[in-house]
Amino acid sequence: MPQTRITKAVIPAAGLGTRFLPATKAMPKEMLPMVDAPAIQYVVAEASRAGLNNVLVITGRTKRALEDHFDRVPSLEAALERKGDEKKLAAIQESSNLGDIHYVRQGDPKGLGRAVLCAQRHVGDEPFAVLLGDDLIDERDELLAEMIRVQQATGGSVVALMEVPREAISAYGSADVTAVEGESFVQVHGLVEKPAPEDAPSNLAIIGRYVLHPAVFDVLHETGPGRGGEIQLTDALQTLAARDGEGGGVYGVVFRGRRYDTGDKLSYLKAVVTLACGREDLGPQFRPWLEEFAAGL
Ligand code: G1P
Repeated sequence: MPQTRITKAVIPAAGLGTRFLPATKAMPKEMLPMVDAPAIQYVVAEASRAGLNNVLVITGRTKRALEDHFDRVPSLEAALERKGDEKKLAAIQESSNLGDIHYVRQGDPKGLGRAVLCAQRHVGDEPFAVLLGDDLIDERDELLAEMIRVQQATGGSVVALMEVPREAISAYGSADVTAVEGESFVQVHGLVEKPAPEDAPSNLAIIGRYVLHPAVFDVLHETGPGRGGEIQLTDALQTLAARDGEGGGVYGVVFRGRRYDTGDKLSYLKAVVTLACGREDLGPQFRPWLEEFAAGL
């Protein structure tokens, strides 16, 4: 059966961002700058590069700045045009040209599974991608396009996996997988949300990219509260992994590229420094300064 082409990306962004208080008291954590662009812009750009130009952002209270960011600002554009500042003009226009961006509010920001359910009406009966804003994938390394290919080839759902040290697995969903002969992806037999290291089926962590069959919506409706009392996407995928036939089966793409975690203060700092070092406009000045700074510590 031919598969429906994937065009929709869902970005859950309703979380309260408590790890970054007080910065996130009145500002969405997704707007924290990664050098000079907010974190969410990297994620929307990644979706756009993979051909997903219909983006649904799941928002909530205090998230208005997200909508403003992806909107146009004619007065600012006119001022930059008058000054002849084409570089800055292009920079502010970039975020408003990344695709059609839609918003829906999740009144009660509890659990990734609930956030994904908020997308049901918008997504309809098509496979779709979910991108979590805490994980940034380096644009030089392909992940989403490969996951889309695997979804189209298998007709199931696809998670992104990455090897992490065993002691770190309790911060992630952990996957029980086997190789698929002749293929670069793996079959997922089981998933456990944030297990203790000794209970984890493997040190393969789910990272924040999913390409899902719409069957996940019905499963989420029937999924009870899991870890932390929240409806977990991992639990719904565990159900789909055990299901045969239409919409069943879960597969994994093991990512070995560069991923920047921005979910807590320490990893955020590391991500900003890494991105700044790699920038053509800043790196040549920033790297020697950083070396000197580190040598003096
Ligand atoms: C979510 C998922 C988890 C996954 C993680 C990736 O957890 O529930 O399975 O490993 O994202 O970042 P969160 O980090 O939102 O608590």
